[in-house]
Amino acid sequence: MSTIPVLTIDGPSGSGKGTVSRAVADRLGWHYLDSGALYRSVGLAASWAGVDFSDHASLVRCAFDTKVRFDTSGDDEPRVIVNGVDATDELRTETAGAAASAIAVISEVRAALLDKQRAFRRRPGLVADGRDMGTVIFPDAEFKVFLTASAQERAERRYNQLKAKGLAVKMDSLLREILARDARDAQRAVAPLRPAADAITVDSTGMPVEQVIDRVLSLVQTKRGR
Ligand code: DC
Repeated sequence: MSTIPVLTIDGPSGSGKGTVSRAVADRLGWHYLDSGALYRSVGLAASWAGVDFSDHASLVRCAFDTKVRFDTSGDDEPRVIVNGVDATDELRTETAGAAASAIAVISEVRAALLDKQRAFRRRPGLVADGRDMGTVIFPDAEFKVFLTASAQERAERRYNQLKAKGLAVKMDSLLREILARDARDAQRAVAPLRPAADAITVDSTGMPVEQVIDRVLSLVQTKRGR
């Protein structure tokens, strides 16, 4: 198993991880793990079930029981099926993001998702996108990137994404939410957001996404060619 190559791409919300990871996985012909979607799915499934977010035992049960399937049969981005329901759009809302961030601080929830995430490591390779891919889930990954961008730029990107979907959002509240989520993700005791010691940091502020994709691909290709 350890011979199956993994590229981990960790970083804060809105750093472009999702777009970059998917494109890089596509170009390499590798599998793709959107670990944030797993956390979001568990948060959403817990809300659907009316679970009280202070009831950790029920949240942990939800983490074990929630069935998440990525349907890649269409031409567009994968659809995320949560307990049989297509939740792709609902998963992207700030509400789902906040639920994910809240459950992500519970170490037993993280432990429940460990094997589910490692199961994505299949031939010919995996691009794993998240917060702790290089530090906790795949510490032995051959390639590790920490992708970041300024909070202002991340808020602008999220604003434009949501606006394009016809969702009404306010820029200043988005920026506040992003800063609050960053602080929570970086300060939590379990698997805090930080670059792995052997990760290469790529700051995408002001960089067009194509350039970021090429940069990450060239990191992989350079290392593979050695
Ligand atoms: O990447 P994202 O915005 O979809 O992630 C949603 C939340 O899930 C984020 O606030 C932190 C959490 N998360 C995590 O703790 N570990 C991961 N590997 C991925 C996401």
